[in-house]
Amino acid sequence: MKAHVLFVCLGNICRSPMAEAVFRHLVKEAGLEQQIAVDSAGTGDWHIGHPPHEGTRRILDEHGISYEGMKARLVTHDDFSGFEYIVCMDGSNLKNVRKLLKKEDHVASSQLFTFMELLPGRGVADVPDPYFDGNFTYVYELVDEGCRVLLERIKKDLQL
Ligand code: 4NP
Repeated sequence: MKAHVLFVCLGNICRSPMAEAVFRHLVKEAGLEQQIAVDSAGTGDWHIGHPPHEGTRRILDEHGISYEGMKARLVTHDDFSGFEYIVCMDGSNLKNVRKLLKKEDHVASSQLFTFMELLPGRGVADVPDPYFDGNFTYVYELVDEGCRVLLERIKKDLQL
């Protein structure tokens, strides 16, 4: 079985592409590229087709993490059938993703959750949006820590 992971934020240029790139890097380091696929998407359409934000690119460059070929796209209803893990960077993203659900959809809490649920000890509900406050360093810290927890969770789920 293969796990498909989708990170979702608002613009798909700052937080979720950072999480996509960091998580893919960790998956590659763990030698699990055949078992775990990674993507990201946004709930807003302003940046469709754009590469990650300069601040996200800079911090990924600093850590030697590739973001090659990544382009913003919108989250769609089809993503519920394509991804077993849909990880929303904040509560507002989660609310907007839930709006895509249809009556007949059954989505488990293990499929759709917020990124900070991975880091309960932090006492922080949302990954703050660096598009507005410019704090890409803090976001990277949270993203790196949360992605490591997520990788362990998926390894356990897939019995790897
Ligand atoms: P992101 O940040 O959701 O982390 O990609 C944002 C990017 C763009 C905008 C808002 C948030 N925007 O309003 O264009």
